[in-house]
Amino acid sequence: MRLLLIGAPGAGKGTQAERLAARFGIAHISSGDLLRQHVRNRTSLGQRVKSYVDAGDLVPDGLVMDMLRKPVLAAASGYVLDGFPRTVEQAKASYAVVRALGVEVQAAIHLDVPRAELVRRLLARGRGSDDTQAVVGHRLQVYLENTVPLLEYYAGREWMFTVDGARSADAVHEDIGARIQKLASFIKSA
Ligand code: AP5
Ligand code: MG
Repeated sequence: MRLLLIGAPGAGKGTQAERLAARFGIAHISSGDLLRQHVRNRTSLGQRVKSYVDAGDLVPDGLVMDMLRKPVLAAASGYVLDGFPRTVEQAKASYAVVRALGVEVQAAIHLDVPRAELVRRLLARGRGSDDTQAVVGHRLQVYLENTVPLLEYYAGREWMFTVDGARSADAVHEDIGARIQKLASFIKSA
């Protein structure tokens, strides 16, 4: 199974992706986690992306796509992509690649959470340099400007659905599981 999780900073993409990966036996591929790993390990990619990640700005598309190609293609039993695509451009560019290989997504899940709850979660977590009040505000702005148009671009596709992400992590997970079961595309390829 191949899934996408789309949501604002703090919406619970990582939390839900981990659960979906365990439930369906698929790989959890997080663009943000991989980027932070490169920064921590001071790889050449890490050095190129650090300033973007610290500031809460989007890393250039080409760098993110090059980084993800290998793990996506290696995920033989499927994947849940967390944090990619984040822009319409990323969606269009990656579709051409995955379509040709027959590994395009089967469901995209939008986690919908009100802004006040996002801010509360991120400031309570304090993951690192991008969980400060100023950078959280900027990340939310980047989301509105770049990722909300992606949701509009995907709107109306039968494989895309929105869940209320402001409930408990268990309730959100159950809801996503039930919606996936209902999807014809899932049933065909399961
Ligand atoms: P990324 O790592 O993707 O960060 P993000 O989108 O800002 O989201 P987070 O990881 O902060 O939140 P999440 O939605 O995963 O929620 P989580 O489960 O952790 O990206 C970081 C940076 O990398 C970007 O700013 C950018 O620079 C770069 N980047 C990444 N992808 C890119 C791309 N495609 N293109 C360009 N640049 C890219 O939960 C958050 C907190 O809430 C946790 O403490 C959790 O325990 C808690 N929580 C979760 N669910 C619930 C719940 N249901 N109830 C209560 N609390 C909950
Ligand atoms: Mg995350």
